[in-house]
Parts: sequence; structure tokens; C-alpha cells
Amino acid sequence: MFITGLGGYLGGELGRRAPLAGWEVEGVLGSAQLDVRDADGIRAAVVTARPDVVVHTAYRMDDAGVNVDGTRAVAAAAGAAGARLVHLSTDVVFADGERPLSEDDPPGPVTGYGESKLEAERACPPSALIVRTSLLYGGERPSPHEVAAIEAADGARDMTFFTDEVRCPIAVGDLAEAVLELAATDAVGPLHVAGTDALDRLEFARLVAAHHGRDPDALRGGEGGPGRPKRLALDCSRARALLRTRLRGVREVLGG
Ligand SMILES: NC(=O)c1ccc[n+]([C@@H]2O[C@H](COP(=O)([O-])OP(=O)(O)OC[C@H]3O[C@@H](n4cnc5c(N)ncnc54)[C@H](OP(=O)(O)O)[C@@H]3O)[C@@H](O)[C@H]2O)c1
Repeated sequence: MFITGLGGYLGGELGRRAPLAGWEVEGVLGSAQLDVRDADGIRAAVVTARPDVVVHTAYRMDDAGVNVDGTRAVAAAAGAAGARLVHLSTDVVFADGERPLSEDDPPGPVTGYGESKLEAERACPPSALIVRTSLLYGGERPSPHEVAAIEAADGARDMTFFTDEVRCPIAVGDLAEAVLELAATDAVGPLHVAGTDALDRLEFARLVAAHHGRDPDALRGGEGGPGRPKRLALDCSRARALLRTRLRGVREVLGG
């Protein structure tokens, strides 16, 4: 298995767990080692590693070039090596949903990041598995979302947590286990893999704060406005039918 973003939050978790699931792991830690936009470099690295599967987690929230050109380069490299591609994508390829969003619902991002990740999905071949997930938390160290909640509760950060943006956060360990399972299947196309509980960003931040021993009522909520996604509950029933790994909800993982 060849993993991009091995030094990242999900990539690190995959790198730790993959050997336990019987995979030999190679990959790229981050841009200082090899930039995923370097198409020749990434192709040489993947072809030399001769993996069965390439899992592409590397991305940059604020850099469409990394997300789109990088994905194009990684997809081409996987193709050259004859490897299966598992590409990590996001719930923010959608804008809003009256009911949980399924893989058949048309995407329509409202942020630049969402647009770049949708374009990245479209840079993947039809044979790729595209894992759309949600907010990550619960790893060996707090994720940036958890750090934001903790720092805001401590008064070290001034932040409004959106009460009109609903997501399905997933424990990064559950996602890593699911990705490792899915890597060994022949599932292709978009697949929604997120946690069971749909909750707004203030509710999520409050659960995180309480879990880390902070006062949840210290956090302030407010509306995200027109430039933010709204109700992004993901319907993960297809993934659940494929997986042994349980996609737990935040309340089960963090308590509360
Ligand atoms: N985090 C979330 O809440 C969330 C939610 C939904 C979907 N996702 C998706 O899940 C995936 C993993 O997210 P994550 O939170 O684990 O990411 P992360 O912790 O930010 O890690 C990103 C990794 O990508 C690497 N990287 C960035 N630019 C690169 C480049 N040009 N060349 C090579 N490597 C590069 C980074 O290394 P350097 O910084 O050292 O370059 C880092 O190792 C992403 O595809 C993301 O879209 C995440």
C-alpha cells in the first residue's frame, strides 16, 4: 500500500494501522519529501514501490493546485503502477440536504475547498474508490477541530461555532480501519464513510470540550452565513453494508 500524506492526521493513523492489517506500507510523508504535484516524481515513487493500492490522503485546505493537480498526478501514478486508487474526499462537495445525502445526490460545493475537492474527484478514473468523509477527531493527538474547541473553551481563541452547519464527525481510527477494509474490496465510485451522529458544529465542539475537561458552555455559537455549507448529514448505508468496522457516532466515542 502506498499512502500520500503519511505525516497527516489520517495518513499517520493509516500508517500505524495498515501493518497490523497485513499491508506493507510505503508512501510520502508530506510536501518536503515529495510534492504530489510533481507528476514525474510521484509516478517514479509509486511505480518503484509497486503497491496493490494507492491511498491518496494528501491535500491542502487552501490550495486547489495541490488538491486537483496533485490528485491528477497521483491517479496517473496509480494507473502506471496498475494499482487500485482510493481517494479521500469530503462532505463539503455538497452544500445542503433536507435528508441525509447519498452517493446519488448531485454535489454542489459552496466553498473553494469544496470545489477543488469535487474537481479532484473528477480527476480520478472510474475504477477509483472515492471515500467522502467528514470532520476527523479522536486520534493520538487532538485534531485541528478539537484544538479549536479546547482553545476557545480556554479563552485562548475567539471563535464562533456554527449552529446551522450539520456534519457527521468520524473518529479517525474508525475511518482508517474502514479505508483499510475498503482498500481490499473492489468497490468503486463515491462512497460515504462518516460517523453515525449528525450534529451542528457547536454541539460537536461542546462534546469535544467536555471530553477534554473544559466547560462546554464557554463556547459561543452563531450562524455560518451564505458562504458555508448547511446540513451535510451523509447517508452511509452503502458503506455500512460493506464494512465490518463500525462507524461510531461522536456521542459514543466521546461520551455525552
Ligand atoms: N480533517 C478533516 O476534518 C477532513 C474532513 C473531510 C475530509 N477530509 C479529507 O481527508 C483527507 C486527509 O485529511 P487530514 O486531516 O488527515 O489531512 P492533514 O492532517 O492536513 O494532512 C495532509 C497531509 O498532506 C500533505 N501534503 C499537503 N500538501 C502536499 C503536497 N503538495 N505534496 C505532498 N504532500 C502534501 C501534508 O504534509 P505537509 O504539510 O508536510 O506538506 C500532510 O501530510 C484529505 O483528503 C481531506 O480532504 C478531512
